[in-house]
Amino acid sequence: MISSAPAKIILFGEHAVVYGEPCISMAVNLRTTLSIKRSVQKESCVNGNPVSAQPHMKKALEMLWKGESLDIETSSDIPPASGLGSSAALVVATIAALMKMCSEEISEEKIAKRGFDVEYAVQGSASPNDTSICTHGSAIMLAKEKKEGFLWEIEKDGRKWFINHCDFPEFDIVVGHTGIRGGTAEQVRKVRGFVEMHGMDIIKDIGEVAEEGAKSLARGDLRKAGKLMTKNHRLLDMLGVNTPQIQRLVDASLPSSYGAKLTGAGGGGCMIALTENPEETAKAIESAGGKAYRVRVERRGVLVE
Ligand code: MEV
Repeated sequence: MISSAPAKIILFGEHAVVYGEPCISMAVNLRTTLSIKRSVQKESCVNGNPVSAQPHMKKALEMLWKGESLDIETSSDIPPASGLGSSAALVVATIAALMKMCSEEISEEKIAKRGFDVEYAVQGSASPNDTSICTHGSAIMLAKEKKEGFLWEIEKDGRKWFINHCDFPEFDIVVGHTGIRGGTAEQVRKVRGFVEMHGMDIIKDIGEVAEEGAKSLARGDLRKAGKLMTKNHRLLDMLGVNTPQIQRLVDASLPSSYGAKLTGAGGGGCMIALTENPEETAKAIESAGGKAYRVRVERRGVLVE
């Protein structure tokens, strides 16, 4: 069985989405692919290592697989622990393949919901954003209500998210990777500490920026969307998830772009710039010590062959 899923970037609303605020994300053209074979080994393996060493895969197998051991090989264009959804892509690709092996009827909704259960169990606290976008592809908005492109809803611990498809005109994004690993669970805990101490004001502000950002992107107003991205970045900085290395790449990208922000959990990982000059922006990011990826929207979500 061969399956794959795309990377994601968050355009607006990371962290605030954990508290139910809106979040806009887009799948991009970097993919994780995995192949699964039945094996005669005692324990299932991922790339030759026991699955117990890989918490997401271990959890996915525990939840979905009652059969013999499996031999799983993965290959990925997505840098790990970078905020680009490497673990969400791996989880949903695994779930889709296992469902197919169990002859279960596959739907995006089922894959995304199970993917979220796995992430939630491993991460402790999470939103269904990453597993939903890596399942669906294109672009989505998690919101408090159904929007025009409503796909499905997910509930957990009294919080509810409506997952809506977004139709945006195409635009260029340059991702800048700091080369530093960021841990999502740790950053989510850090923000929880901030919220407990200072309240929800910044979380709510991020929600408003995300709502406005979605509207700007939908009408193709990249100038406005860029400004809002930079505003979202400043709010994330206040939450404490920015780093000097991310800031360096954001600063380097701004003269040639509409706006820039960190993407994903922060504490390392990546930033994104919305730009009409992707070559120039990529060069600026590389000159500031980052690794640049020029990306575009990936319409295909999870795939199983
Ligand atoms: C991580 O890509 C996004 C966060 O908002 C966490 C989550 O939504 O689970 C930081």
